[in-house]
Amino acid sequence: MPFADYFDRRSGRFARFYRSRPIARVLGRGALFDRLDFAVERSTALGALRVVDIGCGSGPLFRPLAARGVHVSGIEPAAGMVELAEQAAADCDGLVDVTSIGWEQLGEWHTGEPFDVAIALGVFDYVPNAGDLLATMGDIARHSIASFPRPGLRTNLRKIRYGARGVSVHGYSRERIGSLARASGMDTIELAPLGRAGYILLARNEPHRVRGARQPADDPATRP
Ligand SMILES: C[S@@+](CC[C@H](N)C(=O)[O-])C[C@H]1O[C@@H](n2cnc3c(N)ncnc32)[C@H](O)[C@@H]1O
Repeated sequence: MPFADYFDRRSGRFARFYRSRPIARVLGRGALFDRLDFAVERSTALGALRVVDIGCGSGPLFRPLAARGVHVSGIEPAAGMVELAEQAAADCDGLVDVTSIGWEQLGEWHTGEPFDVAIALGVFDYVPNAGDLLATMGDIARHSIASFPRPGLRTNLRKIRYGARGVSVHGYSRERIGSLARASGMDTIELAPLGRAGYILLARNEPHRVRGARQPADDPATRP
């Protein structure tokens, strides 16, 4: 699992990017905050009460979501990140839990009521099988929020930097994100740019494929 190993070794360094918004902007990492803001604002606007944060890292989403009364389940396979995420969760009034698994185990791990939103920030960058991760999100949650790096010089430089450590990086055009979402049965609500870094998707997942979701036919109010 070279992608998780990479972040395990760099957990502290990556977490420090979130210490200061202004410094992150100066260093060209402002998109880290833009994608957090998008995920928090859109989840709140949807009235979400339960979200799953896939590849939660050190847990930068925990406090802003918990402060709005949202219960967060963070999943994360890198031990160094799990440790930081558990520290962040301890500050969230019991609204956050952290489980040490990767997205590949998510479908099996999650049983019962679907989440309101599945969020994956900074994860599709490293996943070769993007369609499989989107399909998993579509199985377990009513909505999905995901960030994607765009192809170009910036992503090519990351491919070289990460590639030297055995980690592959993938860029996505708007068109590719749209077609991946459609193929996973998602309706795109919004596909917004994240500056020059990439895009962020908000999609409604096909209700019939969300496991455990109440279908209109189950609703006494709509039964003939
Ligand atoms: C770029 S970091 C982003 C962390 C966090 N979402 C954020 O926005 O700060 C990517 C995270 O994905 C995690 N990861 C690695 N392999 C994964 C997998 N198979 N499933 C889920 N997350 C994974 C890494 O350990 C790392 O914490």
